[in-house]
Amino acid sequence: MEITVAGTGYVGLVTGVCLAEAGHVVTCVDPIQEKIDLLNKGISPIYEPQLDDLISRNKKSGNLFFTTDYKDAYANASVIIIGVGTPENEDGSANLTYLYTVARQIAETAVRDCLVVIKSTVPIGTNDKVEAFMREHVKQGIKVEVAANPEFLAQGTAVRDTLNASRIVIGTESKAAKQLLTEIYQPFQQPILTMGRRSAEMVKYASNDFLALKISFVNDIANLCETVGANIDDVTKGMSMDSRIGDKFLQAGIGYGGSCFPKDTKALHWLSEEEGYVLRTVKAAIEVNEKQKFKLIKKARKDFSSFAGLKVAVLGVTFKPGTDDLREAPSIPNVRLLLNEGAKVHVYDPVGEKNFQKIYPTEVEFTTSIEEALRDADLCFVFTEWPEIKNMPVTKFAENMKTPYVYDGRNCYSLHAAEKAGIHYRSIGRPA
Ligand code: UGA
Repeated sequence: MEITVAGTGYVGLVTGVCLAEAGHVVTCVDPIQEKIDLLNKGISPIYEPQLDDLISRNKKSGNLFFTTDYKDAYANASVIIIGVGTPENEDGSANLTYLYTVARQIAETAVRDCLVVIKSTVPIGTNDKVEAFMREHVKQGIKVEVAANPEFLAQGTAVRDTLNASRIVIGTESKAAKQLLTEIYQPFQQPILTMGRRSAEMVKYASNDFLALKISFVNDIANLCETVGANIDDVTKGMSMDSRIGDKFLQAGIGYGGSCFPKDTKALHWLSEEEGYVLRTVKAAIEVNEKQKFKLIKKARKDFSSFAGLKVAVLGVTFKPGTDDLREAPSIPNVRLLLNEGAKVHVYDPVGEKNFQKIYPTEVEFTTSIEEALRDADLCFVFTEWPEIKNMPVTKFAENMKTPYVYDGRNCYSLHAAEKAGIHYRSIGRPA
């Protein structure tokens, strides 16, 4: 089937490439010329395992095209998937500017009936509103229907998550749209769930917010473990053996970041208030996460009256391993605090440094190895559990640092190994 995809960010690009891989002929549209130029050379503008290979392969086999020419791409398309960003407004609500820009472009250029599929995360009721908006703007005689089809891919595993989706959720208001989308996803051979558009929109928010809640709950318990002398690693291990709880998303740390959980928790909370209902659990998850970001630096403050003039090593800055994305990464406000106090910050991150440099172009020193970052440091913060950081011998701290004060926001090292190595080690939810 021929499919057009609007937007080449994480959602749009990965969806387009995976649909091409599944045998469809896909045209991806984006207004940014530099992105399209890169993609036409077979290079992904985002860091995502497997993506470059799939782009090259499907371009070669004639299944995948990239263009900035939206008029050409939308005019005769029968299925258009929208995967543009829906960032956060200042008040926490979702910003739908990009979505409506694309919806207007499609409506104004379409010369045949089409199904518009919204893959972006959008507030409940948006599919209805976009359909009404498009019907107002479309040429007479042309039928447009809108369907909800949220995505559940995570950065770093986006291709795998799409090709082996846990479920494909399709929200439609007509039989024809349901059939068409079911056909499109048939080659993936994954469970397909069909429902109304509003329920499909809600599945996305409820899933993300539940995961965020799970993390905040574990972080809350971890904080209590510290005061009562329990160890969160043992506690979550014990919890996870109950299959009703499971072993996923129980890792305590310095809070969730990224482009999804912070935004989607706030957006649903904002929407609930608009509806006159207070979503108390989500509100609590947001509050716990805000505080958790600064948990580590609070611990360091107990050992250092000031960070002024100290050399601080920072290992890992991305919001999680496997991505170069820094959106809502806890490292950003923490480094800000350190710099404001006059610390000399030396950062190491295997892929996130280039983006971190855009935020801190002059104030931070960037290094090319863990050892270089640690050399002669007075203290060290671990913000991201990249495998090379997590798997390094803990002895490296004492070998390289001036004074091995280590604050680990991701519980990378065993307490026993840290003690044996003679380092001053503080982590989350575990005995000091
Ligand atoms: C998340 C969801 O996991 C995807 O299912 C969803 O499709 C996506 O948002 C989206 O809405 O597009 P992502 O933001 O890429 O994916 O990252 P996650 O792997 O979910 O991690 C989010 C944050 O939670 C990270 O900062 C991570 O460090 C933190 N986390 C995760 C924990 O602190 N503890 C855990 O146990 C798991």
